[in-house]
Amino acid sequence: MTTRLSSAPLRVAIIGTGGCALTHHMEMGALEKEGRCQVVATCDPFVNPAELPAGVTPGIPFYSDYREMLDDLAGDLDCVTVPTPIPLHAEMHQKAVECGVPCYLEKPPTLDPDVLQDMLEVEEKADSATFVGFGFIHEAERRAVKERLLQGEFGALRRVTFLGLCPRNDQYYRRTYWAGRLLNRDGTLLLDSPFGNGLSHFVHAALFWSGDEGLWHWGTPKKVRAELFRAHQIEGADTFFVECLTGGGIPVRIVTSHACHPGMPRVEQVVCERATIEISHSENHVRVLWQNGTTESIERPVRFPYRENFRWYFDYLTGKNDRPLTRLEDSLPLVHLHAMAYASSGEIHPVPESSLERISWKRSPCPAIRNLESMAERFLAGGQMPSGQGMNIPHPGIWVEADAMASVPELLRAGIRNPADGALACPV
Ligand SMILES: NC(=O)c1ccc[n+]([C@@H]2O[C@H](COP(=O)([O-])OP(=O)(O)OC[C@H]3O[C@@H](n4cnc5c(N)ncnc54)[C@H](O)[C@@H]3O)[C@@H](O)[C@H]2O)c1
Repeated sequence: MTTRLSSAPLRVAIIGTGGCALTHHMEMGALEKEGRCQVVATCDPFVNPAELPAGVTPGIPFYSDYREMLDDLAGDLDCVTVPTPIPLHAEMHQKAVECGVPCYLEKPPTLDPDVLQDMLEVEEKADSATFVGFGFIHEAERRAVKERLLQGEFGALRRVTFLGLCPRNDQYYRRTYWAGRLLNRDGTLLLDSPFGNGLSHFVHAALFWSGDEGLWHWGTPKKVRAELFRAHQIEGADTFFVECLTGGGIPVRIVTSHACHPGMPRVEQVVCERATIEISHSENHVRVLWQNGTTESIERPVRFPYRENFRWYFDYLTGKNDRPLTRLEDSLPLVHLHAMAYASSGEIHPVPESSLERISWKRSPCPAIRNLESMAERFLAGGQMPSGQGMNIPHPGIWVEADAMASVPELLRAGIRNPADGALACPV
């Protein structure tokens, strides 16, 4: 990998202008004021260049085709950001690499393990490593606590858990053509879900905690057991109970759901022999709860995750950091864990109406699964899946290994009878 040694503002192009792409424009705007970068072009086939949203620098060169933009500017760009629909990531990453332009790719890079493999092959030709835009790894406090964990200060690592209950309403699933979808038009896996997309920052962080081979190691899922549910009128799953054993034998248990009440917890726990490390996302501290009853509080200052990631990548591109916070290959554990969860669950279980409340969140309807939090807490503490807690489903999740991922595309294709229907009892 080569790096540029430049202190001049880096020349950045952003693909897309709305949704997450608009946030990229606004956060780059903040970094322009610090003299770190200059946004020199953008593109979007779906907007009128005369009606670009506020936040996009007025008057910058605008393209309707990202390929044209990269061909035109290739030798004159220091970075391109790809905050576009997940199904477009692979081709956009490939084009950036072919044009020799360092790529900041939004998370998740893809949720299809085969596509990720192809992307990794493309990445081998890149001069600078791609940065995948997962959050949290930029937090210096988190990395410092992981160093202490690796040094053995908290005793042996027993388990890692994440409880992530975060509602998403009908409007969220209607905002874009790929939301809540299982398959792309070409039959590759899309698998949009809270586990693989909406709350994937936390899943990636849980795997980071479980990576016991060094700071920059994410635990590799060896065996996975999962039960997946659907409460929304979507093709995919909106509620995941997932347990995995990593290569190091560490259990990681995760619950993520978009079918719940607002204000519910998002809590990471790292349970060790002598202490439990806890990050509750309703507060700005890492807490170390020692077995002797004392609590250590480490402040996590409020930061802008995009801005921190961009700063880190710029420092990498100018030789001040030796690696991106998350490289493409570091996403592999999450992509595999997610795909193995479908293979384990065997189907996406529709949540019966009697187990649902119909609420309104941000002025749009949202289903909320009754007793979800208590069911999740029992699972995280003791490993009892919903099927073991009275949830009536035909097949409890089974333990699977990595080879089971290969069956997921065929099972999904066979299971989808009418993708336009949107409300499918979909065997995977
Ligand atoms: N980091 C975060 O916290 C965060 C938050 C939200 C979304 N995301 C990620 O950002 C990505 C985009 O998500 P979204 O919900 O904003 O998607 P989206 O469907 O709203 O699309 C984003 C933008 O891409 C543009 N676009 C679509 N096709 C294009 C093309 N062929 N060429 C150029 N531009 C194109 C759209 O017009 C839009 O401006 C996803 O990977 C998502 O997971 C990350």
